[in-house]
Amino acid sequence: MQSLSSKPKLLIEPFAGGATIALTAVCENWVDHALIIELDPDVAAVWQVVEAGDALALADCILTFDLTYDNVQSELAKEAKTTLERAFRTILKNRTFHGGILAPGSGLIKAGEAGKGLASRWYPETLAKRFTALHQVRHRLTIECRDCMPVLERYKDDAQAVFFVDPPYTAGGKSAGKRLYAYFELNHNNLFEACSQLTGDFLMTYDDADEVHDFVHQYSLMSKLVPMKNTHHAPMTELVIGRDLTWL
Ligand SMILES: C[S@@+](CC[C@H](N)C(=O)[O-])C[C@H]1O[C@@H](n2cnc3c(N)ncnc32)[C@H](O)[C@@H]1O
Repeated sequence: MQSLSSKPKLLIEPFAGGATIALTAVCENWVDHALIIELDPDVAAVWQVVEAGDALALADCILTFDLTYDNVQSELAKEAKTTLERAFRTILKNRTFHGGILAPGSGLIKAGEAGKGLASRWYPETLAKRFTALHQVRHRLTIECRDCMPVLERYKDDAQAVFFVDPPYTAGGKSAGKRLYAYFELNHNNLFEACSQLTGDFLMTYDDADEVHDFVHQYSLMSKLVPMKNTHHAPMTELVIGRDLTWL
């Protein structure tokens, strides 16, 4: 993304997950509105609850939950009947499963960080504060639970929209995306093609894989390796990709 001279009207985060960038951009007033798209209905439920004006109810569920192994297990064994229940289960899993991983095969933390067991990543007050803050900006958030590719097509000619694209990392046979997300299948060539046709500015992040470098070259984009930390706080690098990264 070039350094932006004026505030963008719309930030689109097509692979939302935790939607860190879109939510930060709205809360910090960097953009007027964010559109977040998420294919996994369990993950999308969290943002649908915020959009529907129920973030305070979700905060309340978090604050009043008594976190024990038995309570977590019986909560997760129940069938979620409402979007609020579904969203709460997603938050509970995200905070009590190994590495916050929701994909099938993941399971409850045992020893946890600093031997704190199941509660090692359960910070109810912090979570409740976040949802309370999101409740204030809910009118500036739109969520769509669906495949993001047609949405990229819909906004292709919109010069007022900017995009932050953080897909599951499965390009070049890399398996991180498969392990981390229930919905990981993606045609990376189609995604690169769609992004290269956007009128608005965009930033993508990717694993540093040969196939990704080939796409960058094929679609005449720029890439830079930037340092980051993974879910276990281990330092690593990832690729940032855009049309013009001379500002980075
Ligand atoms: C790398 S994560 C995004 C992480 C996010 N940037 C964050 O801050 O947490 C990728 C997300 O894309 C979702 N996803 C996968 N395929 C998708 C698709 N075709 N359309 C929309 N979302 C998709 C996955 O369910 C996952 O939540």
